[in-house]
Amino acid sequence: MNTEKQTQETIYATLGGADAVRRLVDHFYDLMDTDARYAGIRALHPQTLAGSREKLYLFLSGWLGGPQLYIAKHGHPRLRARHLPFAIGVAERDAWMACMKQAMADVSIDPALQTHLAEAFFGTADFMRNKLG
Ligand code: HEM
Repeated sequence: MNTEKQTQETIYATLGGADAVRRLVDHFYDLMDTDARYAGIRALHPQTLAGSREKLYLFLSGWLGGPQLYIAKHGHPRLRARHLPFAIGVAERDAWMACMKQAMADVSIDPALQTHLAEAFFGTADFMRNKLG
């Protein structure tokens, strides 16, 4: 990251940096693991969510304007390709979004920032759709 970029206020910094991103990701997967509304997308994931937590944390760090941890470790995210093994339609997209919106509210992210992030997450989640319906 260049010096100029470091002096800009990123969403990553506004949120509270690494600890805040970890908190959000952990809560997101805790909800997915326990709330019956997310059982459908939970079932697409491995039995243990430790790897999923770590990968989403690494990815969101860079996606939110912080350190590009995912790229440093795994290379280009190729997110759509990496989701192709999982059947993702409108229901899965909407469940993922509902889970993330609930997680953002529960960890008390600023409401205006929640709205902004929800729009950005939606763009990515919608792009993951790979089946009709
Ligand atoms: C649209 C609904 C979505 C569903 C159903 C879904 C489901 C999944 C599943 C089942 C995995 C594999 C988990 C694992 O390997 O441990 C995964 C991986 C991942 N997902 Fe999603 N996902 C969705 C949307 C998103 C969105 C919107 C993002 C980012 C904002 C995202 C980021 C990631 C990342 C970074 C990985 C790890 C990729 C890898 O290194 O293999 N996903 N997702």
